[in-house]
Amino acid sequence: MEAQILAFRFEVEDNLGILTLDTPNEKVNILSTPVMQELNKFLDELNSRTDLQALILLSGKEGNFIAGAKIEEIENITDPKDGAEKAAMGQAVFSKIAALPFPTIAVIDGACVGGGLELVLACDYRLARDSEKTRIGLPEVRLGIIPGFGGTQRLPRLIGIQRALDFILTGKLVDTQRAYRAGIVDRIIAKEFPHARLRRLGIDFAQEIQNSQSRERIVARRNRANPQTFLLEKNILGRKVLFDQARRRTLAETKGHYPAAELALEAVEKGFSKKDINEGLKIEAELLGKAVVTSVSKNLVKVFYLTEAVKKDSGVENYFPQSGMQEFHKIGVLGAGLMGGGIAQLMAHNGLPARMKDINLAAVAKGMEAAARVFNESVKKRRMSPKEMQNKMALISGSADYSGFKNADLVIEAIVEILEVKKKVFAEIDTLLPPHTTLASNTSSLPITEMARATKRPDKFAGLHFFNPVHRMPLIEVIRGADTSDATVASLVAFSKKIGKTPIVVKDSPGFLVNRILGAYMAEAGRLLAEGAAIEPLDAALVEFGMPVGPVNLFDEVGLDVAAKVSHILENAFGKRMSGDGMLDKIVESGRLGKKNGKGFYIYEGKNKKVDPAIYAFIPKTGKFDGSAAEMQDRCVLPMINEAAMCLAEGLVRRPADVDVGMIFGTGFPPFRGGLLRYADARGIDNIVGKLETLAGKYGERFKPAERLMEMKQGGKKFY
Ligand code: NAI
Repeated sequence: MEAQILAFRFEVEDNLGILTLDTPNEKVNILSTPVMQELNKFLDELNSRTDLQALILLSGKEGNFIAGAKIEEIENITDPKDGAEKAAMGQAVFSKIAALPFPTIAVIDGACVGGGLELVLACDYRLARDSEKTRIGLPEVRLGIIPGFGGTQRLPRLIGIQRALDFILTGKLVDTQRAYRAGIVDRIIAKEFPHARLRRLGIDFAQEIQNSQSRERIVARRNRANPQTFLLEKNILGRKVLFDQARRRTLAETKGHYPAAELALEAVEKGFSKKDINEGLKIEAELLGKAVVTSVSKNLVKVFYLTEAVKKDSGVENYFPQSGMQEFHKIGVLGAGLMGGGIAQLMAHNGLPARMKDINLAAVAKGMEAAARVFNESVKKRRMSPKEMQNKMALISGSADYSGFKNADLVIEAIVEILEVKKKVFAEIDTLLPPHTTLASNTSSLPITEMARATKRPDKFAGLHFFNPVHRMPLIEVIRGADTSDATVASLVAFSKKIGKTPIVVKDSPGFLVNRILGAYMAEAGRLLAEGAAIEPLDAALVEFGMPVGPVNLFDEVGLDVAAKVSHILENAFGKRMSGDGMLDKIVESGRLGKKNGKGFYIYEGKNKKVDPAIYAFIPKTGKFDGSAAEMQDRCVLPMINEAAMCLAEGLVRRPADVDVGMIFGTGFPPFRGGLLRYADARGIDNIVGKLETLAGKYGERFKPAERLMEMKQGGKKFY
């Protein structure tokens, strides 16, 4: 049935049609089926109008153009034919835009992604407002699908194969400037123009292009953007080279775990060779159908929902924000080391002044340098201008005393990992800071409650556990101590989101959530080594499972000294199952700290690394492992599921989704598997318990299935 939602408004001014999309009662415009049907009807009417000289397409929502198609509508598609049909319907609507007998102009302000971009690609011209909110791209592969409303056909025809693939295969979103340089946007509208003026600017543009010279100038600029690529793309051989390269790069990146990227590549390659775009569209629709039914796509959609749920979660059950939520505008950072420097950079990046303190000025300078390095990377990639970098760096200051701290709303501590030192420093600043200041520790293993009780404001004290490198890792664990108030938790959760991170709330307990679950994984990897597994096949097995790096590689990345310390803390708290049997201590004693000093399990030379054969002398030989890759995967992954079940039973986090968010965004657990517990559900709790029991029979207690898992098995329950 056709729903009458009236998302579009149509007016005529000076023989120009103006179509405004503004879906009622929604914050953003989404291309749901009813919206598409309404557009379809409009287009049929427009097509027969002889009075119009151009059509201008606008969004009625400031800062949002079109956020894409409705994800819920693809979620339950299980037959590739249904997927292809859905794509074909959308394509047919957009083809009507392309076929209108007069020029069509889209005026973009805000997100123009997925189906939104595909719609404007069917238009003849695109203008875009240069505001922070304007993001343009085709993120479909991130949901395990391919652009299915013409994106794989129209974008390469508009901007060339190579640049189009860069959008389609990565799903990246770009700002107006970049979209202009790529040739997607024809004209930039300065952000100073208010949203209300966009209609006028669209009309002016429509009048301007009535002149054929103006039209030619615009198209010539588009084509000038990258003449070399176009040359290569003009002949079949050149194109073959291009696609072969792209295929190799894609496989190296996805390791075959994300079929959508390969299907998108196929859609572009096969479609581009067709003269008639309609033939290309048919291919695209079929491949969309193939992609949409994969379990990878279903899992990625679920991960998308997880992140949406995090955005809405206050971090506290039944919490009403009226009761004392606090905003943090000025930030103090204690310790200007690896993490402190990174945290200060993140604050400045988000426009927040950050004041650092360390034991001497040389240490403060190091923190500043670390922050500058991260900004510099952005400047090099042209994501930021040198001027912007200067402005952001000006937000960071520091000293060897607490001057400048008395105005801080939030102080984040990232000094040495020694409880007594941390307690002393917190007790000291507690007396200097105003009563409203919230205190947070970035400790990765020490008890928050104990630190909080060294101050007179334990209710305004929590853990704020960032991951390394701070600018890249999306997760923050907000650690709730025994005395932390609801208001403090909710304020820190809101703050974490404001600075662009994904927070989960975790109870104060050794290793918190992510490092504890990871600890079980790393300990087992250590035991596999001791049993005689070789380093490279072990790492390769877990990479094949989908982890971003193998566990031995991860030891080196984390730092062997840090890993050894965490392993002891976890062993003290949870016993043998977390034990590293002293292997790491011996390696650290030999001066190997991992990647940071170029020597760990691997030796690092420039960008290359290879296993150090001498490392095997440090690994105690306790057996003779000759198992398969699958065996290694199970031995490392199942203990994580077991540990997560214990964490849930202990109430460490509030729900399974927190575990999956934590593991995906804190460790890179493969999103295509939907998350650790989603993976457990898919495999079946029966299967997991059975396998753990077998392993327990062979290797002992540490594999004993958690009580929670046994209950789930008996009750036929799943995590979700
Ligand atoms: P780091 O050694 O790079 O930096 C620590 C800084 O604190 C040094 O610059 C030191 O001079 C300074 N410092 C020591 N005592 C101080 C005091 N009394 N007052 C002011 N500054 C003092 O250490 P990193 O790696 O940055 O770690 C800091 C904290 O962050 C630790 O609690 C650590 O557990 C935690 N953490 C570390 C992660 C990592 O991957 N390195 C990840 C997450 C948390």
